[in-house]
Amino acid sequence: MSKGKFYITTPIYYPSDKLHIGHAYCTVVSDAYARYKRLQGYDVMFLTGTDEHGQKIEEKAKAAGVTPKQYVDRIVEGEHGVTDLWKLMNISNDRFIRTTDDYHVAAIQKIFRKLYDNGDIYKGEYKGMYCTPCESFWTESQLVNGKCPDCGREVHPASEEAYFFRLSKYASRVRELLTTTDFLEPASRVNEMVHNFIDPGLEDLCVSRTSFTWGVPVDFDPGHVVYVWVDALFNYMTALGFMNDRYHDCERFWPADIHFVGKEIVRFHSIIWPAMLMSMNLPLPKKVFGHGWLNFNGEKMSKSRGNVVDPYLLAERYGVDALRFFLLRDVPFGSDGNFTNEALFYRINADLANDLGNLVSRTVSMAEKYFGGTLPQQRDPQPLDTELISMASGLRGIYEQNMEHFAPQNAIAEVFRVISRANKYIDETAPWVLARDEAKQPRLATVLYNLLESIRICVTLLQPMIPESCEKIFAQIGADADARTWDNAAVYGILPAQASVCRGENLFPRIDMEKELAELDKLTKKEQKAEEKAVKKTEKAQAKAQETDGIVSILQIEDFAKVDLRVAHVVACEPVKRAKKLLKLTLDLAGAQRTVVSGIAAWYQPEDLIGHDVIVVANLQPAKLCGVESQGMILAADAGENDVRVIFADGIPSGSKVR
Ligand code: ME8
Repeated sequence: MSKGKFYITTPIYYPSDKLHIGHAYCTVVSDAYARYKRLQGYDVMFLTGTDEHGQKIEEKAKAAGVTPKQYVDRIVEGEHGVTDLWKLMNISNDRFIRTTDDYHVAAIQKIFRKLYDNGDIYKGEYKGMYCTPCESFWTESQLVNGKCPDCGREVHPASEEAYFFRLSKYASRVRELLTTTDFLEPASRVNEMVHNFIDPGLEDLCVSRTSFTWGVPVDFDPGHVVYVWVDALFNYMTALGFMNDRYHDCERFWPADIHFVGKEIVRFHSIIWPAMLMSMNLPLPKKVFGHGWLNFNGEKMSKSRGNVVDPYLLAERYGVDALRFFLLRDVPFGSDGNFTNEALFYRINADLANDLGNLVSRTVSMAEKYFGGTLPQQRDPQPLDTELISMASGLRGIYEQNMEHFAPQNAIAEVFRVISRANKYIDETAPWVLARDEAKQPRLATVLYNLLESIRICVTLLQPMIPESCEKIFAQIGADADARTWDNAAVYGILPAQASVCRGENLFPRIDMEKELAELDKLTKKEQKAEEKAVKKTEKAQAKAQETDGIVSILQIEDFAKVDLRVAHVVACEPVKRAKKLLKLTLDLAGAQRTVVSGIAAWYQPEDLIGHDVIVVANLQPAKLCGVESQGMILAADAGENDVRVIFADGIPSGSKVR
């Protein structure tokens, strides 16, 4: 029977083509909580997704020469994109929302109108300091040393006609929410919100933009798009079906039980979000938890650090569970943490290989060696067993307390206390000595049974963190479905007396720290070299293409999209003096003239080309060929040996884009 519902969310991510291990942090912790609640018997809805609108995306897409939708599609659903990363990390989300999904866009329009109709959105003029990367307007007083208080980057003065949300109207209610309830945790974040943002005076929030178009259009005022944070925050409700017919889960799951968010976006979730919900008379989420940041060697993490923070490479080399384990165990949830390869290896070696891996492999090997894999029924319990049995029996309660207090790192530490105790128990009982004496067989069976039961309980509780490895360990210790349940994690003696084991692979191979660090270093250098080589190769190919007007080497789709191909009309053509191979073409490109030099004189006379329409690479770096500046190149095919044919596009209007 269900214990009730549990709705958990992660922030929705900005599509980034530079995903690093820090990005996976919040989603891995959220996943562990979703799994934990499912195991406890809750009906869980676990939501994650992507936040795809805004000026930043519009600018990046433009730079890549693609539409914003093409840009986000590739990063969200393409190879090594956001959804790939969640698959890799074994994320068990029940739903994935993209803010470009039609149902969400339509719902945001309705929500904006509703806020407007009830008088909490009004039109005004916005003047302020704008941080483009953060998509945030700031007042002078909020700036830190004149820079964006969130990211520390340059801001610039900006003003535009805009709609405003009456955030100020809700200041005292939000203050009360934060100071008299446990809506926001950890408590340190409450002080920060109240002292830095609410007490200095909450100003109304600018909630529409006219300076760019990549956003949800305000349907009653064309030219305005909805501020990306309004669009983004309501994802938590539209994904359940709020103001849309795609889903019908609002009644079941809203309000959210927990929003996990990074510390830099606590402000949006604990001030703006509840204020907007108050304005719409909607129930508030039960809790917002602001976690810390995962740094790299003490500095802000970024993908430019290469392999050392690349989740794909790390998962391939050390396993997904090892990465999940590190994130959950090493970083105290709520505080900042530090990722280093040494720290990762240390965790893998100390906890997973030495403690857990060793305990499982020693126990299973001994059960196989001494009893052919199946324990006999006779028992000989002794006082020495009591401590281990009582620690294992009481473990679930302590573990749950820690989980409920948002301290998964401590919940895991408690499990490992029992694992260490069990390893010590092996040394104390010395099963290899018992095995020498036939009369001590019942004692030996008792020792091995206690070890198997301790493993079973520990592994049941580690399922939310390292699900794949737990499955494998369950199989090794012969735990059937009943022995794996959460309820039975609080009961000792669930495995049958004649428990059977089956030895499996070594789950957590030890890492030779020095060797592996050197290996990573080598890989990073190799990657850097490969990148440099690729850049050089492209430059060379481009230069060659300009000389010969031939074909450029294979391109990535995003690189191809950068090539601006246009139809152009040949208005004049003549040979280039002192150059046997070259023709100089004068092209009309959407009303503008340009000169292009092409190495096709062996196959075409000028009169073969004049009056025709051709395809030109319009954004090629100009290059001088035999003293004539060529402003692009025309497309031609190598149709056979010594047979080059220009690709004509006759009849297509000059300036048309070719895709
Ligand atoms: O903020 N360590 O998206 P985002 C820990 N779209 N957490 C990290 C991290 C690191 N090194 N790097 C990133 C947004 N994060 C908005 C959210 S929700 C309605 C809209 C975390 O892609 C960061 O703290 O910039 C945030 O919680 C999440 O990744 C998404 O960040």
